[in-house]
Formats: sequence, C-alpha cells, structure tokens
Amino acid sequence: MRRILVTSALPYANGQIHLGHLVETIQTDIWVRFQKLQGHECRYFCADDTHGTPVMIRARQEGITPETLVARIHAEHSSDFDGFHIEFDNYYTTNSEENRLLSEEVYRNNRQAGNIRVSQVRQAYCERDGMFLPDRFIRGRCPACGAEDQYGDACEVCSGSHAPLDLKEPRCALCGDAPVERESEHFFFRLTAFESFLKSWIRSGALQTEMVNKLDEWFEAGLQDWDISRDGPYFGFEIPDAPGKYFYVWLDAPIGYMASTWAWCKREGRDFDAIWRRDDQMEVYHFIGKDILYFHTLFWPATLHGAGFRVPNAVYVHGFLTVNGQKMSKSRGTFITARQYLELLDPEYLRYYYAAKLTARVDDLDLNLDDFILRVNSDLVGKVVNIASRSAGFIQKRFDGELCARYPEDGGLRDRFVAAGDEIATFYAGREYAKAMRAIMQLADEANRYVEARAPWTLAKDPDKSDALHATCTVALELFRILMIYLQPVLPKLAERCRDFLRLPPFTWEARLQPLQAHRIGEFSHLMARVDPKKVEQLIQNVAPPVESIAQANAKSAIKAGKSAPAASNGDAKVAASASAPAAPTPPVPPPSPTSASATIDIETFGKIDLRVARILAASLVEGADKLLRLTLDVGELGEKTVFAGIREACPPDTLPGRLTVLVANLQPRKMRFGLSEGMVLAAGPGGKELYLLSPDSGATPGMRIR
Ligand code: 2FM
Ligand code: ZN
Repeated sequence: MRRILVTSALPYANGQIHLGHLVETIQTDIWVRFQKLQGHECRYFCADDTHGTPVMIRARQEGITPETLVARIHAEHSSDFDGFHIEFDNYYTTNSEENRLLSEEVYRNNRQAGNIRVSQVRQAYCERDGMFLPDRFIRGRCPACGAEDQYGDACEVCSGSHAPLDLKEPRCALCGDAPVERESEHFFFRLTAFESFLKSWIRSGALQTEMVNKLDEWFEAGLQDWDISRDGPYFGFEIPDAPGKYFYVWLDAPIGYMASTWAWCKREGRDFDAIWRRDDQMEVYHFIGKDILYFHTLFWPATLHGAGFRVPNAVYVHGFLTVNGQKMSKSRGTFITARQYLELLDPEYLRYYYAAKLTARVDDLDLNLDDFILRVNSDLVGKVVNIASRSAGFIQKRFDGELCARYPEDGGLRDRFVAAGDEIATFYAGREYAKAMRAIMQLADEANRYVEARAPWTLAKDPDKSDALHATCTVALELFRILMIYLQPVLPKLAERCRDFLRLPPFTWEARLQPLQAHRIGEFSHLMARVDPKKVEQLIQNVAPPVESIAQANAKSAIKAGKSAPAASNGDAKVAASASAPAAPTPPVPPPSPTSASATIDIETFGKIDLRVARILAASLVEGADKLLRLTLDVGELGEKTVFAGIREACPPDTLPGRLTVLVANLQPRKMRFGLSEGMVLAAGPGGKELYLLSPDSGATPGMRIR
C-alpha cells in the first residue's frame, strides 16, 4: 500500500468557486478516489488562501473584519466543493495558528541559513488610503503604447510588462488619487542561491516535460530574489522581529498545505513530522494551474529546502478552462459559479465531462455546452445506465431478483472487461482521464452490442428461452458492475446508487475479479436523468452581467484584479508574470474606464447611493499629503461632515468655502492618517489639475437628496 498526500491550489478567500476552479479540484478528486479504490492510503488537503490586500480591502468595504469575511467565504467554498463531491480530508484556512507557526519556522530557518536579505524598495503609495499599492491597485496610461487605464504591472493592449511607477498619470484604483513614491525596507528570499538545487529537482521526475522546458527558459532568463514582505496595513502574518512588516501572501499560501495537514494530524493522531519534515511516510503531489507554476516549482521547493523541510515528489500542472472556446465571460453568460451550476444541474455531469476531456498535458480544456449535453446523454445515460435498465427489470420480474447461480458462458466478454482494468488503471494513474473514459465507453459499447444481439426483450416472450434470458441479464449486470467500478472515481454518487440497487459492499478495483453469481439484487430505481438542454440554457441566462453600483464595481474589480495576478503584485516575481503570461481563467473585470461605458445597473441599485447637496464651510491643506484638502461640509439634516478630497491641485482652498457640491453621504467612513473621512465629494475629469468639482443649480440647499 502506498501512502500519498495530494493537494490542489488554495482558492482565494475573496471570490466564489467557479467552473474554472473545478477543473482542478475535480481532476484532483478523481485521482485521489482512484488511488483509494486501488487500496492505497491517499489523503487530500486544501484550504482557503486568505491573506493579502484584496481580502483586507473587501472586508473594509463590507464594514467587517477580514476574519469575519474569510470565515463566511470558507463556509461558502466548503459547501460548493461538497456539492461537487470533492472529498477533502481537511479543508482548512491559511489564517490559522498552524500556518502562522509554520510560516515563522520556514522564515526563521531560511534566515538562519543566510537565505534572507534586506533591501530598500521604492513603491507607489496612496496617501488617501494610507497604504502601498499592489500593482493591480494602480491604473494609468501604458508607458509603451499609451493605452489608457492599464494595471501597474502589464498592459492588456500591447502585452508589455512595466513597473507600476512607470505608468503615466497613475492613480489609485481604490480612490482615484495619484499615488506618491515611497521607499521602504523589504525582505528578500535568495532564490538565486537555489538554482542548482532546483535544476536537479525539476529533473527528478517532479514535472511534466513541457513544464521542465518552461522552467529552463526561466533559468536562462536568470532567476531573481523574491520579495517576501509587505508593509502594513496588510492582512497576513507579521514577520518575527519586524514590526509592521508582513509575509507576502504567496509566502504563507503554500505553507497552508502543510498547515492543513498538521491540523488533520492533530485530529487523527498522526505524525506530522514524518510527512513534512522527513519524507518517510508519504509521497506528496500538488495539482495546480499553469498560472502558478513559478510559485510551485521555484519559490515553494526552494523555501522548503532552504528551511530543511522535504520537497514534493511532483507538481502536476493543468491548463485553463474555456467555455464554448473562449475565456469565461460574464457578458457572454459563461462565467459560471459552482452555485449557479448546482442550482440547475447534476454535479456528476460536469465531473464526467471534465474527465472525458482531461489529459496529463497542460492544454486548456473547453467546456462546449452543446457537446456537454450530447456527450453526457449519449455516454452516461445512453450507454452505461442503459445496460442496467434493459436487464434489471427481467431479473426482478422473472427471477425474483436472483442472478444465475453460476456466472454463465459469455464468450470471454467478462474476461476482456476485467483485463481492460489494467490499462484503465494506468490511464487514471497517469492523469490520462480522457483515455480512461474512452476505454470505458468502448467497453460499454461492447456490452450494449451483447445485449442487442441477445435481445432479452425477445427472449422474454418465449418461455422456453427463460435460461437464455436469465444468462443474458446476469452477464449484462455483471458487465455493468465492472463498468461502474471503473467509473467510480469520476461518478461516486452514481456508483453508490448502483451498489445500492445491486446490493453490493463498497467497490475496490480488485472486486472486478470475482463475478456476481448466486446473488440477489434489489429494486432497480432510476439512476441518472438526461441533461435537460433547457436547464443549460437557463444557466447561461442566469449568469447575467453583474448588477452593482459603479462604486462597488470599481472596488470589486480592483479586488478581482488582485486575485488573478498575485504573481505580479508589488513589483516582485516579474518573471512569473511575463514569462508564463497565460491568460487567466478568471479575467478581471476592468473598472469603468474614461473611454468605455460601464455595466448597466438597475434603479434600485442606484438608489442605494445617498447623494446629497453639501455646502463647503471650510477647506484647508493637509500636512504630509500634497494632493489632499480637508473639507468641512454642511449637509443639512445630516449635520456637518469632514471629507478628505484629492482635489488640491485643481481647487485652491480659498475658492471653496460657500460653494455647493455633491456628496456621497453613505460611503463607508474611512480612517486615514489625518483623521476620519466621512464620504466623498464628486468631481469630473482625469485627475491632477484637470478636476472639476460638481455643483447643483442655484436654489438647492444643503442636505437635499439627489435622485
Ligand atoms: O492562484 C490562486 O488562486 C492562489 N490562491 C493559489 C494558492 S496555491 C498555494 F500556494 F497556496
Ligand atoms: Zn487611494
């Protein structure tokens, strides 16, 4: 018996599980279930990836603590995965005590070994938000091609990569202010010291050949040390002996694999050290998408090795999901979340469809919705379930549920089914699920040909042919049983229903060797419905473009952006962003740009914004913030409010008192270094000197609602 530990990538705790995540978790779950069916001990660990700026900002926007936010998302993610029958041994969180202790240990050991250095880093800083801005929280004009509204790390128009401070007319994605440059001390992991270790590790069988080639390109381009620290405010673990400095989310995220294992070990009384500090108990495999290759095949093994931990046996990389041949897209109705799918369709349809298309290569997987309907209906319902539904009734009605006392002569058919198991097992073990499904469906075709040739429905009409009928249906159900053993890793619930009706104990791969004979089966009940094309249509319609306020859309897109490109944030790991440059499976929705129209919203959503007429009572400069003015506003029935506005370049403070303007009065108050900002005044224009404060017509009075 082998002992195997398997992980899939930890989803960020700032978004919902969608069909893209499920390519990976379904691929992994099938592999784990296959290993268990083979009789191996196989444990599957995962967790939510909770740290980083996007989670911190989103919690702030929702007016809750990050801990509350990540607890809520954890419950959602757990139930989504459960809905798709993903069987984790532990689904944990990176915001755990185990993860803190392990992250500190990995850091300390590396520091002691001389693998950490300190350097000054210049970065964009938003004075209004009081924080350094990750690359994806800065927007501006591309320094190479001049395209408007690009992120701080790369241009979506010319595909060039750039440093955030090189953007023209940069602005903070959260508040729109122009950031300033600030210097700060950062901790770097000396990746460069691990080149020869990594080169031999990737050639130890740890990677697919395509990925070895990719890594060779990176080695040729030259490794760079890795910036593993972030300045507060940051949601994460504070670095030991470095107050105000936090571990970058990507340092503690993979350590979450170990933390999830550790929590399980405590619960199960198992030896954590034997798994992760030595490697004498379990083989370790990571399943990941190609966008996070750099982290898992360079940073991760190097930080583990540098800290004296064992390294994984292999990292299995897969491609992205496309839907109908294109990136998932909200406007096309193909950005489908796990929940939206589960409301309408059986999870096992998707498990089967993915399995039927998955290979061990890094190719993208296309979910073609027409093909999905056809394939599931023809293979699972038309071929597999059909074998049982055409024979079980006769066994029930004519033979009181009893199969033949001895398995009948079948011309070697069963032997061929049993023998095929070796090849199918090789396909599963090598993650060639598409080949495994093809081999299984060829067997199902053979079984159906057998049933058709013997035509039990005709035999049933002739009382003299009762033995032949009995034999035919016994053979058919036996072949069906073997097929269901082969399909169980992919379709665990269907397999369970089949076992129930056949009255069988849990399957093992070996159980196929012993034929069913002298066995009484139960009542045949409906095993699987056909995919209803109307439900698929409805799913696409339900996945309508998001309806949300512009402010929310803006904020959310910054958050999303942070999700899909952590590799590139804050200037480190540039190589990862430019060298792999895969199209992200979850494309960030760009915030409304000056040149493009925003998504539409309904009137109710608009009504949630409390816009008021406000009179500026006083306007003064803010020390230490050369873009800001402190405004004191009279908002009528709402009283006086203080707002810090980034309008100093455009509006000399002495011109403002007495003026009426427009205030967003119900914006979450924001604590700034200079005091509390209780709303936002509205202005038009790109920023800097070109900002035009809005005013109502004369006659409006402070406190009036704007609708
Ligand atoms: O890319 C992502 O979604 C990351 N949250 C994956 C982390 S995997 C592991 F390193 F934690
Ligand atoms: Zn800002």
